[in-house]
Amino acid sequence: MAEQRTLASGARAFRLSIAGTEHVCDVRPGETILKAGLRDNIKIAHLCLVGDCGSCRSQLVAGRVQLKRDISNHISSDELQAGFVLACQCVPQSDVELIVPGVSPITAKPTRCIRSKGVSKARGFSITTSANS
Ligand code: FES
Repeated sequence: MAEQRTLASGARAFRLSIAGTEHVCDVRPGETILKAGLRDNIKIAHLCLVGDCGSCRSQLVAGRVQLKRDISNHISSDELQAGFVLACQCVPQSDVELIVPGVSPITAKPTRCIRSKGVSKARGFSITTSANS
């Protein structure tokens, strides 16, 4: 999977791919997966944009993300280990691939997860929680 590239503006970006679809877009530095997807007209469900409603729940398949805040109000620790995230609270740290309900076909499958302290790791993804979560 390719890593950060330079946009026409000179900014560096990672790539967001929606599993099982042709949807691919750039994620600008510090931008969340949800904002990048919406800018590119990917129909990711959302209501609040701040991690309160849970409607942007998705599943990370590949890549590394940093969570902006604690999402345990909607995602249990077991679900986090399986790659479930809130797209509005994920800032990519590499190219990422995500299963998005209502966008990805139901045949899209996540990779197997391996538990480790502080970070959810699997063959294909890692989720880092923020320092204050
Ligand atoms: S849009 Fe509400 S939790 Fe993400």
